[in-house]
Amino acid sequence: MADPTGHPRIGRVLLLAAAGVLTLSGATRIMAHGNVTPQAVDTSALPDIQPNNDTWVQHNPYRGNAKAIEIGASAYGQNCARCHGLDAISGGIAPDLRLLELGDSGDEWFVQRYQHGSVREGKVYMPPMGEVLGQKAGWAIRAWLETKHTDE
Ligand code: HEC
Repeated sequence: MADPTGHPRIGRVLLLAAAGVLTLSGATRIMAHGNVTPQAVDTSALPDIQPNNDTWVQHNPYRGNAKAIEIGASAYGQNCARCHGLDAISGGIAPDLRLLELGDSGDEWFVQRYQHGSVREGKVYMPPMGEVLGQKAGWAIRAWLETKHTDE
């Protein structure tokens, strides 16, 4: 491989430095939203959302979809459980998501929080998740949460 600096060792150091800067800037952007590193969710097995995945809908297109429930369970474990509790059973840090209303009205509240998070008096209670994880992952999590619903 041709080395742009004409010096193999310096070329390699520069490459490593460039990679380091990229990693850092990515991390900072995410850390600014409340110290959480979101884990990417593979949603390729799920149908695209109409008219497109970037236009937010208010009701869950995956309600009752077995594949979505499966993906949602693991996406929740990786991205929400640290605050909302393992298996959606809250330890008290954040609301118990099993109590969210079922159906359309619960969907609307869910997607609002998922997309924008919650900031009160300048303090981040919950980081926004929509942009980082995407809409498909959000509705998959909601589909799973509905299977955990309880009224108590
Ligand atoms: C850093 C901790 C944290 C993480 C991570 C987090 N949340 Fe939250 N979430 C909160 C807190 C705290 C609240 C309460 C916000 C408030 O009272 O304003 C909340 C509120 C919510 C609500 C509204 C609940 C209600 O009863 O009003 C939903 C829905 C929700 N979160 C979904 C999620 C989902 C889905 C994920 C994962 C993709 C997630 N959250 C990740 C801390 C977190």
